[in-house]
Amino acid sequence: MSKTIIVTGGAGFIGSNFLFHMLKKYPDYRMICLDKLTYAGNLSTLKTIMDHPNFRFVKADICDREAVFVLFEEEHPDIVVNFAAESHVDRSIENPGVFLETNIMGTQVMMDACRKYGIERYHQVSTDEVYGDLPLDRPDLFFTEETPIHTSSPYSASKASADLLVLAYHRTFGLPVTISRCSNNYGPYHFPEKLIPLMIANALADKPLPVYGTGENVRDWLYVEDHCKAIDLIIHNGRVGEVYNIGGHNEMANIDIVKIICKELGKPESLITYVGDRKGHDLRYAIDPTKIHNELGWLPETMFKDGIKKTIQWYLDNKEWWQEIISGEYQNYYEKMYANR
Ligand code: NAD
Ligand code: TYD
Repeated sequence: MSKTIIVTGGAGFIGSNFLFHMLKKYPDYRMICLDKLTYAGNLSTLKTIMDHPNFRFVKADICDREAVFVLFEEEHPDIVVNFAAESHVDRSIENPGVFLETNIMGTQVMMDACRKYGIERYHQVSTDEVYGDLPLDRPDLFFTEETPIHTSSPYSASKASADLLVLAYHRTFGLPVTISRCSNNYGPYHFPEKLIPLMIANALADKPLPVYGTGENVRDWLYVEDHCKAIDLIIHNGRVGEVYNIGGHNEMANIDIVKIICKELGKPESLITYVGDRKGHDLRYAIDPTKIHNELGWLPETMFKDGIKKTIQWYLDNKEWWQEIISGEYQNYYEKMYANR
């Protein structure tokens, strides 16, 4: 059956990959992207679907109640998937305010619109960072959906706040919600301020590769398409009111990722430069995905060794996409964050 889905933040990394996945898999669905086009959103990312007959792009802020309500009035969506967020931990340390505004208040506006116009499902795209971190010397520990919320950064605190609000709207107003908490994603269209694309771009320019602290911090990496497939399953078959963790048991230390990138690109490890640590830097993230596997049959399909090769190749084949980004305002950002680190 045909459905209309509003995807917020669809001009960003994961949201755009989700739009590509859905338009391909469901030829009769109408997909609407609502995006403010902040520094992290790029229309060039969506150029291959801009003229697709089942796709509409709307430039708007999820905090703009009037604009959001007008869009609901026009489209009467069946499902809303809320990806829109300020997403970079380092920026949240510099400037927390906008994280609270978009990530919490924006979530409220989207859910208020869902309440007013009626909805089959509101899905909140959250993060494993709401659970805080795990110690490096306890590889037996993983985040489950029952792990207490215990945030470290203004980013994770804002995402956790939104999650609590989403669950409150379910309990208080009966809004049919689901939440997914995924580990670190990588793949095409990843904004070059994040670890993997930043290291690829710097390595290709023979620039220093800035590793925070000791480089021993561990992240649990998942290929972006696998995340999109998990969300697709949750919005169609997930149980209302539930939280689903998403992750592929692919834990890697940052330094090992950077070394792989050097090797794949034929660049010397001497480019690696240890720099001052991130404030409050989470040590280790590791997801237990048993629930989504048992209930919805989800399993990651792309192994890291293949996914990282595909990703590096994508950055080699799509230089204009990221070079355009790093030639602009990004230069000031980079100078500010890394010059005296
Ligand atoms: P991103 O920063 O690449 O993209 C965010 C998008 O949201 C951009 O297109 C931006 O323009 C848009 N946006 C920002 N503020 C907005 C606003 N006020 N109104 C409308 N649009 C706005 O982020 P991403 O990495 O694609 O992450 C998407 C979601 O997934 C976020 O909610 C994030 O918390 C979550 N998440 C990300 C990861 C990851 O590894 N990147 C992992 C788990 C969860
Ligand atoms: P990031 O991609 O910002 O994702 P997150 O903070 O959400 O996990 O960072 C991934 C890891 O890489 C994190 O431990 C911080 C580290 N990192 C660096 O060492 N150097 C860098 O320049 C960046 C951007 C991140």
